[in-house]
Amino acid sequence: MIPFVALVLVTTAFTEARPIPHPLTIVSRLVNDSDIYANWPTYDQLPLHPSFPPRRPHGVSGDELGALNHIRNATILGAKSEIQLGKTFNLNLQLSMPDPPLIPNRRPLIHAIQPFAGYQDDVITLNTQISTQFDGLRHFPYSTNLSQSTYQFYNDLITFDDIMAPGGSATLGIQNTAEKGIAGRGILLDWAGWMESKNASFDVFSAIGIPTSDLDAVATWQGLDPTSLFKPGDFLVVRTGFTKQYTALSPHAQAILPYREDANASFIGLEASDATLRWIWDKKLSLVGGDHPAFETLPIGNFLIDGVQRSLHQVFIGGWGLNIVEYLNLEQLAASCHELKRYSFFFTIQNLNVVGGIASPPNALAIM
Ligand SMILES: *[C@@H]1O[C@H](CO)[C@@H](O)[C@H](O)[C@H]1NC(C)=O
Ligand SMILES: *[C@@H]1O[C@H](CO)[C@@H](O)[C@H](O)[C@H]1NC(C)=O
Ligand SMILES: *[C@@H]1O[C@H](CO)[C@@H](O)[C@H](O)[C@H]1NC(C)=O
Ligand SMILES: *[C@@H]1O[C@H](CO)[C@@H](O)[C@H](O)[C@H]1NC(C)=O
Ligand SMILES: *[C@@H]1O[C@H](CO)[C@@H](O)[C@H](O)[C@H]1NC(C)=O
Repeated sequence: MIPFVALVLVTTAFTEARPIPHPLTIVSRLVNDSDIYANWPTYDQLPLHPSFPPRRPHGVSGDELGALNHIRNATILGAKSEIQLGKTFNLNLQLSMPDPPLIPNRRPLIHAIQPFAGYQDDVITLNTQISTQFDGLRHFPYSTNLSQSTYQFYNDLITFDDIMAPGGSATLGIQNTAEKGIAGRGILLDWAGWMESKNASFDVFSAIGIPTSDLDAVATWQGLDPTSLFKPGDFLVVRTGFTKQYTALSPHAQAILPYREDANASFIGLEASDATLRWIWDKKLSLVGGDHPAFETLPIGNFLIDGVQRSLHQVFIGGWGLNIVEYLNLEQLAASCHELKRYSFFFTIQNLNVVGGIASPPNALAIM
């Protein structure tokens, strides 16, 4: 293993990396361009320097793309063998779903028709956090402790004021992900299908935390070896059954769902824990996603690292530069995966090219 170098300017980065606007004095590592994983830190080696927050890989990749750097040209070329039938699957919910939004202070989609003599346009205003969504690196900062004074966005590149400033910086904006052009291999783990196969009942509108031991068991149930299933750059997609249970609700039940007083907006998700972080880090995933509201259990922020409350959102987005895709519509894809006994697929995501944007509908497509 090549030893880490301490406190140097991040000038070496991945071959395809974008330069950092303002080089930061952060811990970096030697990067071997012909083998980017040659000295990749293990989860236990995070952070690379004791002055950095727990489990934060500051300086592992010194640019704005974060975990999308796991998608190399060869990753996409390798994934083309997933296309065997020419069968496509739209993974996006209708933009107006859920209706009403599950968090009441997020405003619903506005869709207006603008008529002219002989033709018409339409105008769409949307909060990108309501329907199927790709959380960008401006969405969530990491914090050392619960104090806002310690909030840091990915690689410490921006502040809240940079985001708010009119005409301000576009750093870490969603346009980076649009220009990257995201494609590769997706892997579906159908937790809901596995639970149903055991006749186990569950309620997606409760704070179920799915442990990674379940995900390994799901892989085995799907006939896959959980120890060798993932390749660097893969997109992990977890089906919790959220869409199925939500769409089965009556219109009245959907309307009152955001106003449950007994459950504090609890929703199913991955268990927020050190074990989950380790499991994800080791796989070198480019993206994680699912059919449910926050990927991790809601409400968030209830787990501790080194005695401090955190969420997977903080660690993934603010810490690792790992984007999260939520509210995917996986129903048809999952049905086909079971029918074909194949759980991998080619996928593409093309976010809106909004300069300085925070999140986007992912326009996600799977091809088998
Ligand atoms: C970089 O990686 C390649 C491929 O694994 C290896 O042959 C080469 O020796 C490495 N270079 C250094 C400086 O470690
Ligand atoms: C990888 O693809 C990018 C464009 O997506 C291109 O600019 C670059 O030259 C390619 N790299 C190699 C090694 O082919
Ligand atoms: C968090 O860290 C900051 C900066 O070190 C410090 O000023 C603040 O008191 C800490 N807050 C808590 C709640 O520990
Ligand atoms: C689940 O329930 C069905 C229908 O009652 C039954 O046929 C099946 O054996 C049950 N499966 C398990 C694993 O209990
Ligand atoms: C809802 O939140 C309140 C205040 O934080 C808490 O006291 C209560 O136990 C929560 N209820 C449930 C069902 O989680």
